[in-house]
Amino acid sequence: MNTAASPSLASNRPDLSAFWMPFTANRQFKLDPRLIVSAKGMYYTTEDGREILDGSAGLWCVNAGHGRAEIANAVQQQLLTLDYAPSFQMGHPLPFQLATEIAKLTPPGLDRVFFTNSGSESVDTALKIALAYHRARGEGQRTRFVGRERGYHGVGFGGISVGGLVNNRRTFVTLPGVDHLPHTHEPKRNAFQRGQPEYGAEHADELERIVALHGADTIAAVIVEPVAGSAGVLPPPKGYLERLRTLCDKHGLLLIFDEVITGFGRTGAPFASQYFGVTPDIMTLAKGLTNASVPMGAVAARREIHDTLMTGAPGAIELFHGFTYSGHPVASAAALATLGIYEREKLLTRAATLSPTWEAGLHAFRGRRHVTDVRNLGLMGAIDLAPRDGAPGVRGYETMVKCFQTGALVRTTGDTIAVSPPLIIREDEIARLFEVLGAAIDSLD
Ligand SMILES: Cc1ncc(COP(=O)(O)O)c(C=O)c1O
Repeated sequence: MNTAASPSLASNRPDLSAFWMPFTANRQFKLDPRLIVSAKGMYYTTEDGREILDGSAGLWCVNAGHGRAEIANAVQQQLLTLDYAPSFQMGHPLPFQLATEIAKLTPPGLDRVFFTNSGSESVDTALKIALAYHRARGEGQRTRFVGRERGYHGVGFGGISVGGLVNNRRTFVTLPGVDHLPHTHEPKRNAFQRGQPEYGAEHADELERIVALHGADTIAAVIVEPVAGSAGVLPPPKGYLERLRTLCDKHGLLLIFDEVITGFGRTGAPFASQYFGVTPDIMTLAKGLTNASVPMGAVAARREIHDTLMTGAPGAIELFHGFTYSGHPVASAAALATLGIYEREKLLTRAATLSPTWEAGLHAFRGRRHVTDVRNLGLMGAIDLAPRDGAPGVRGYETMVKCFQTGALVRTTGDTIAVSPPLIIREDEIARLFEVLGAAIDSLD
């Protein structure tokens, strides 16, 4: 949307220069901003009053749709009742209650919950819990981690170290002692596969090579996203997660699933681990936990991991880790209200019901100009476009901008378009999303 010509819009705008925007081409954005001023249900409203269908649930996080009154009321009440109380050597009821509710949803056994404020903090917390657990068991030499190429685990130093996206790593130092499994994206063998790819389970066997190189007794944990999200929706090949689980068990490694995107109904089950029938030892959560209304993350760990750490001198702090806002009362209230909505509206399994329509709509893009691959699982989808000669990423960016101009929010990484709407989306809105997206792709050079 080029609003540079509209003096009334420009005069209502705040000065854009001071806010250093995250993961954004700041100079480009500020020349031609895309500003959203309100949201309700499935729609955003832009500063010039246009409705934009939310095809990406914000950043994969507004699972129950926008502007939920139940959450707003719970937050307001909580702010007036108890705005803040420490969680260090002190407590207040809500995070206890929330942890119990989360434990009812997580796979059996993963019923001990540590609170954070974001996905990145959840990842770094999970890695630290893994180290502390092995140390408490007398295996403190297990300090190495295994991540995966194309993995995204947030932006903390732990997260970028186990992550596998070059742009997030190259500028910064990363932790020593981290190896990466190969990614599983193989369009040559698996292009246009619906759901899980047929081929590629053997990529999990690379873990044997890493174990053989370093010795199993030096490795603390393996961390993967069950479905890689930010790298462009890469569902795991059939049998892959099962093999990782088997190998982790064989070598005494903890398996961490980063469910920051896949958690809270994105796949059609409450968590991807249930969808795939593979249970990790630790899960990281954030995003959908509060419907993105208030920042909050969590780590759910197997009870035995927690209990192993509940030792030592009486009165000793068992884990020297935590955040000022761990279990924040307002975030906890927002999360409890969110879980209530998920339950009442059966949203955590709704993606399974919608998935056939979603899949059919996405795969109808096959054969369209520029489209080289389509992937889907639950209510996640991706369309790869052939890069323009000498200008990789430009077709993806232009698609995103065109969609925004014509009424839909989609997310792009390079020339991959990712879609992941709120779980309240209706079938006619799915059709509308793909109509807008299709027209945007058709308009590309
Ligand atoms: C799988 C995964 N882990 C971690 C994160 C980081 O979460 P946050 O941005 O809340 O720190 C993300 C964010 O997209 C994610 O997709």
